[in-house]
Amino acid sequence: MSNPDELLRIEGIGKTFPGVVALDGVDFDLRRGEVHVLLGENGAGKSTLIKMLSGAYRPDSGRIFAGGQAVRIHGAQDAERLGIATIYQEFNLVPDLTVAENIFLGRQPRRFGLIDRKRMEADAARLLDRVGIRVSPRARVRELGIARLQMVEIAKALNLEARVLIMDEPTAVLTSEEVEKLFQIVRRLREEGVGIIFITHHLEEIAALGDRVTVLRDGRSVGQVPASTPQNELVRLMVGRSIEQQYPRESAGPGAPLLSVSGLTRDGVFHNVGFEVRAGEVVGIAGLVGAGRTEVARAIFGADPYDAGTVEVAGRRLPRHDVNAATAAGIGLVPEDRKGQGLVLDASVQENLGLVTLRAASRVGWVDRRAQRTAAARIAGQLGVRMAGLGQHVRTLSGGNQQKVVIGKWLLADTKVLILDEPTRGIDVAAKVEIYQLINELTAAGQAVLMISSDLPEVLGMSDRVLVMNQGRIAGELPAHEATQDTVMALAVTATPMKEEVEAGRDD
Ligand SMILES: Nc1ncnc2c1ncn2[C@@H]1O[C@H](COP(=O)(O)OP(=O)(O)OP(=O)(O)O)[C@@H](O)[C@H]1O
Ligand SMILES: [Mg+2]
Repeated sequence: MSNPDELLRIEGIGKTFPGVVALDGVDFDLRRGEVHVLLGENGAGKSTLIKMLSGAYRPDSGRIFAGGQAVRIHGAQDAERLGIATIYQEFNLVPDLTVAENIFLGRQPRRFGLIDRKRMEADAARLLDRVGIRVSPRARVRELGIARLQMVEIAKALNLEARVLIMDEPTAVLTSEEVEKLFQIVRRLREEGVGIIFITHHLEEIAALGDRVTVLRDGRSVGQVPASTPQNELVRLMVGRSIEQQYPRESAGPGAPLLSVSGLTRDGVFHNVGFEVRAGEVVGIAGLVGAGRTEVARAIFGADPYDAGTVEVAGRRLPRHDVNAATAAGIGLVPEDRKGQGLVLDASVQENLGLVTLRAASRVGWVDRRAQRTAAARIAGQLGVRMAGLGQHVRTLSGGNQQKVVIGKWLLADTKVLILDEPTRGIDVAAKVEIYQLINELTAAGQAVLMISSDLPEVLGMSDRVLVMNQGRIAGELPAHEATQDTVMALAVTATPMKEEVEAGRDD
């Protein structure tokens, strides 16, 4: 009766948090040599399910079998003993340790009672080679980009000789090139017989990588289908209806310039960046990770200094490196790093949604708490924030719902210019459409939106104009109707003659 290829089986797992039934009798199984995709809306219970397998949470009910035997997974050690390795939505590396130290954390090879550094570094080098990245075992994790961090996480999992590898939204932070590399590794592990549980909100990845898909909705399994299932069918299973239009952009005829950036330069980071965003416009910024887009956004918002150039809002020049002045002038920034910069994790949903408006209101010396609660409830409802109530702490929201709160906070803030940096990272397909509709509302009301995104279909689908950044400068501008993935990528990857610039000297 028991299948020899079966690595894991879950029967009727349930988990309740205060006010929320996160999982309600879910069945799931994983076989040797397969990629089993877990699909579902933000808050459907995906991360909670895999935390039962990694030992982070204990189920309230139901049973887990490994290799046909009933098991209890009551902590990380239990999971490790069963050969289950997990790469979480949030990374688990120690920034100040080296790559090798992270890979061997808690299990360093010892010689005469001392840590055998040489062996550790040699072993680490071999594992890194196996995942195919060139990074020194002695590099500090702090210095690595996010893609390489991910690879280090995988190397760490390989070191545990995992038979089950769980990956919670590994591609959310990667560029398409890096995704391809990750897929190669995952395919190789699959061939070696590893079973992989893969969570993603990028539907196109499912057919490309997956074998089977289990769809969760509101903590229940609503179906198990082959990965070749058409995307619209997957969406229907996931959200209970089909989505007609993924990018519902309604252009509002552009008005007067609201944001004018000119000659903006930060030595060695971005150079001579200039553009305008008009009232009612959505201007997209495409480019590879590392092209300088986030850095430009932060400089405009006053979060970082710059060396030359000007930023004007509605014709008034802003002082450099002054977030308060920028906010007072009506600039908002939804940052890329939501955990680090966008949220107060131990405050409630309502408090987080009110952060910007509260600050503005208390300057006037008067806060209408009731109006604020109403506004918070409205935006949370519109974005479909899945929560026990407005009083729930943001820390206990699912990843995508945290992101909705960051965005909601700024949507409520009544800005003139809203800068969105990777706004829909980690957001499910249905909630994305809601965010796009809110962007339409903002521009219809005369606000200007600057949207940085690595999701090319999103940039093309929601922008009126597209700027392409390449190595710290604007490589070109395309009207939305002329921009295609190919024209944008051509501008994004063409080598720019940085040398000439240096020789010609700074032009400002
Ligand atoms: N520690 C906790 N305390 C209270 N509620 C929690 C806790 N952890 C998760 N939840 C709730 O359980 C539900 C499922 O969350 P989970 O993180 O599993 O969603 P998810 O499917 O991974 O979503 P996402 O796509 O946004 O990552 C959510 O309503 C969430 O708020
Ligand atoms: Mg999750």
